[in-house]
Amino acid sequence: MSCLYYNDNQLFIEHVCLADIAEQFGTPCYLYSKKCIIDNYRAFRDAFADIPHQICFAVKSNSNIAILQLLADMGAGFDIVSGGELKRVIAAGGDHKKVIFSGVGKSEQDIEEAIRIGIFCFNVESEQELVRIAHLSAKQNKIVNIMLRVNPDIDAKTHSYISTGMRENKFGIELIDLITLLNKISELTSIKLIGIGCHIGSQITELEPFLLAMDHLLAINATLKEQGIKIQYLNIGGGLGIVYRDETPPSVTEYAEALQRKVSNTHLKLILEPGRSIVGNAGILLTKIEYIKNTGDKHFAITDAGMNDLLRPALYNAWQNIMPVTEHRGPELSYDIAGPVCESSDFLGRDRKLVIQPGDLLAIDCAGAYGFCMSSNYNSRCRPAEILISGHDAYLIRRRETIEDMIALEQLVVE
Ligand code: LLP
Repeated sequence: MSCLYYNDNQLFIEHVCLADIAEQFGTPCYLYSKKCIIDNYRAFRDAFADIPHQICFAVKSNSNIAILQLLADMGAGFDIVSGGELKRVIAAGGDHKKVIFSGVGKSEQDIEEAIRIGIFCFNVESEQELVRIAHLSAKQNKIVNIMLRVNPDIDAKTHSYISTGMRENKFGIELIDLITLLNKISELTSIKLIGIGCHIGSQITELEPFLLAMDHLLAINATLKEQGIKIQYLNIGGGLGIVYRDETPPSVTEYAEALQRKVSNTHLKLILEPGRSIVGNAGILLTKIEYIKNTGDKHFAITDAGMNDLLRPALYNAWQNIMPVTEHRGPELSYDIAGPVCESSDFLGRDRKLVIQPGDLLAIDCAGAYGFCMSSNYNSRCRPAEILISGHDAYLIRRRETIEDMIALEQLVVE
């Protein structure tokens, strides 16, 4: 459910009117509802209350340190994919002992730092990575926990760019390589196998792929048992979809009940790595219409936010609801909402029926996940501000970038 609602034709998040935010902080900017994030996290935690579990929020979905702080305060662990994300978790006051390091390309430097800081475990994706982690942990005289991320070859029935658990994807370890890897692990004294896991994709709107993935993990666990290998954790990854338009994803409760039924008699602790389902509907992008352009039979609303600010529509042809901040009466026209970037893929939405005029504000809904964190400086555009709404209050949690910020790392050549 969206965190946006109308009161007297004006769009609000919690008790704050979006028009006031634009006035105070300028546009474009990302806004997040604190209450919505808290509610989403609690719904997840409560749904899994009956079985041992740990929620490790996928930092890649929204890595602002104030958002991470909020989640850390509620007891969340974190799923990271880089040394940078680890630094963010630490800066946010997150518990390093609840951090899981995922990703197919962990660098030596990042692994070394994670071992030094003492994270909970590494999700290992290949034999070469395994050997690298073992070597670096031996160097620090430590024994580090690892889980093996397997590739279950399951179609998550999502956009091909965010499907990660099929054989053709670069992620995870193939079943046929598992035995070799287990033999290798038994020779390595600086690592300890504590679990197995998978992550089959994102924005998954059916239960079946998750259940197939869980069956796959349980079958592997049974094989491990036969070989006398005891593990403590099953990691099902993230991926639960949200409603952007008319999708009908399972509720967190349905998701939890179905998974719980599968693992209830295994005595294994479940690891969950949700991202989108915690922050997706809790954030929006606020933008202003600079111009209305009518060309031939098309109408364009040119906004001050573009694909560099919110990439999802351009990259995945993703549909996100676009709502006027002030509702006007009058005949609707069909608009393409396009940004100022010099690419025809720079659109936020197409064929949207709206009553709008230049200077109006628009809210792009459900932009809390993979929104700001995928933004860039393309066209030398300063990245937007981020603001956390809590009740009647608005907190600036990232100031708008300046051109000085942007060029600070560059220098002229002096011969
Ligand atoms: N765990 C792992 C290992 C992952 O790779 C991901 C996301 C997650 C957890 C969190 O998945 P979630 O619960 O958020 O679905 N940029 C794309 C989404 C990419 C997802 C990548 N992996 C988008 O905007 O739709």
